[in-house]
Amino acid sequence: MGDYNSTYESSLADPDGFWANAAESITWSQAPTVILDRTHAPLYRWFPDGRLNTCYNAVDRHVEAGRGHQPAVQYVSPVTGTQRTLTYDQLLDEVSRFAGVLAGLGVVAGDRVVLSMPMVPEAVIAMLACARVGAVHSVVFGGFAAHELAARIDDAQPKVVLSASCGIEPSRVVPYKPLLDEALELADHAPTACVILQRPQLAAQMGVLDHDWNELLAGAEPVGCTDVAATDPLYILYTSGTTGKPKGVVRDNGGHAVALSWSMANIYDISAGDTWWAASDVGWVVGHSYIVYAPLLVGATTIVYEGKPVGTPDAGAFWRVIAEHGVKALFTAPTAIRAIRKEDPESTLLADHDISSLQALFLAGERLDPDTYHWASDTLGVPVVDNWWQTETGWPIAANPRGLQPLPLKEGSPSVPVPGYDVQVLDGEGHPVPAGTEGNIVIRLPLPPGTLPTLWNADARYINGYLSAFPGYYTTGDGGFLDDDGYLYVLGRTDDVINVAGHRLSTGVIEAAIATHPAVAECAVIGVHDAMKGQIPRAFVVLKSGVDADPDDLAREVVATVREQVGPVAALKEVVVVPGLPKTRSGKILRRTMRGIADGREEPVPSTIEDVRVLEDITPFLKG
Ligand code: COA
Ligand code: AMP
Repeated sequence: MGDYNSTYESSLADPDGFWANAAESITWSQAPTVILDRTHAPLYRWFPDGRLNTCYNAVDRHVEAGRGHQPAVQYVSPVTGTQRTLTYDQLLDEVSRFAGVLAGLGVVAGDRVVLSMPMVPEAVIAMLACARVGAVHSVVFGGFAAHELAARIDDAQPKVVLSASCGIEPSRVVPYKPLLDEALELADHAPTACVILQRPQLAAQMGVLDHDWNELLAGAEPVGCTDVAATDPLYILYTSGTTGKPKGVVRDNGGHAVALSWSMANIYDISAGDTWWAASDVGWVVGHSYIVYAPLLVGATTIVYEGKPVGTPDAGAFWRVIAEHGVKALFTAPTAIRAIRKEDPESTLLADHDISSLQALFLAGERLDPDTYHWASDTLGVPVVDNWWQTETGWPIAANPRGLQPLPLKEGSPSVPVPGYDVQVLDGEGHPVPAGTEGNIVIRLPLPPGTLPTLWNADARYINGYLSAFPGYYTTGDGGFLDDDGYLYVLGRTDDVINVAGHRLSTGVIEAAIATHPAVAECAVIGVHDAMKGQIPRAFVVLKSGVDADPDDLAREVVATVREQVGPVAALKEVVVVPGLPKTRSGKILRRTMRGIADGREEPVPSTIEDVRVLEDITPFLKG
């Protein structure tokens, strides 16, 4: 592991030197002279006196370097039957004019802009346009309900909201505008304007605040890039935590540009001119980092895919896109591969497509189970590369660094800690555990560039939630172990976050929605194993005394309540009515014990349990 080992060691021994070197891949309007500001530890700032514009680095500089005719964005939309290629020249034109739209609406550097958009090129254009004027975008995934969108609007306080008339799921057209209208009704904060992209599949009813996207664009003048500090926020991305309130992960401009460029070359082995496809959604961190920013920062072509891996039109959809566009590497979640395998287990549809351009399949977002790893490896005949990270870090913490030095792959492991991340496994008291022993996966501070400097308007919440359990370390919330070769194995969350089809969800948020049902006295939601989605939520509900509801009717109502308040993405389908929930004598629900049983572990019965029979009664339902 020569190159990897020496690079990893130098990144930890001399982070300033290492990242100063990496920063040379970025065009700065003022190059940083200070690399890491440690004066406010445990809050760190990378490149504090550097200045740049992220959009300039992702678009303009490639045009200036002669890449104007190369495709920058390749939109492939099997759900609408359309494709569109945007060269770097065209992307620059569209982004600078949409930046003109934002400027015309009074958006200036530091203002927030919320986006609720389907997977269309306009979403990418709008994100880059925000970056161009120095505004801070916050993209909200379309599968969340109005209530969740409202919570994000209230926290981010956007000047402008950008949305579309609809999104398109294979089974239905999803009206986005009524969802936005409802969210704005629920929210305390009011933006000054909304810009709506009218799609041919469904026309949105426009209100007094609303402007037509294309009408504004037609009359807009292009604007140039606004210089910002490297430490200024580029975006806020809300993610699920243990409590109901979503956490606004802040991403800065400078560290992000440096780290993502480094990752494209050294982890994913992608450079200018390559075609790269991250099959995710702009609403998730994978979408931010690897559909939008990283491929464009390095001058590659990024595929923007609107559709699912199966059913649009068939389970050969991914192979068709790879063949048609000469995709060098595909990045998606294991669940997408499981969905394809379920539909086409013998991979007969692969034979119709020449996917010889494909050099690697990268999988992340949830644990890569050995079965899926082997099926994908055997089917595609290319390295299948697990990588582990999270919204907070923005880029991989553990991976097989294909560009730096491809290492042997091991099933069940995303390989080794990435340079910049000092990954440790600690026991509950904060002591390092020996190789092979499970514990809390933590990262010694400082985190590398590109990771969250803090939570939006919530430094104390960041410190309490991530930096306090083990002083000097960032707590990832995942448990696992390192093996004798230094390979990391990530076994799952140690908190109440679950992962459904690669989507991160808070059981606390789902529980809060269920608790609003008038018949429900109390409830607990646990993630249970699902062969396709990895995990699915299962709700255990105790009815108020005297309520005599039919369990099937009640389950249907609870599912509908969660869909209405959290959104379809919560994918709650299973509701079990139980006489009681296992609790401690002081009345605390034993969620950790329930989770352990659901995960198939031999859980000792806690000595503090109030009534062991309640736990015994619920155990068969936890095991499924
Ligand atoms: N807007 C509106 N609704 C949405 C949505 C969006 N952007 N995204 C998902 N939904 C809805 C779906 O229509 C579905 O609703 P339903 O219950 O009425 O069918 C629900 O939310 C759950 O969606 P999903 O979890 O995507 O399940 P699915 O059964 O429709 O598809 C997969 C399953 C595995 C095919 C799909 O999740 C997938 O492709 N995932 C892998 C890639 C990925 O996006 N990973 C994210 C991180 S890398
Ligand atoms: P998100 O913030 O939505 O990207 O979700 C991050 C969480 O997903 C992590 O904390 C893990 O629990 C899980 N996760 C992501 N990638 C992997 C992986 N490769 N292996 C295991 N778990 C993963």
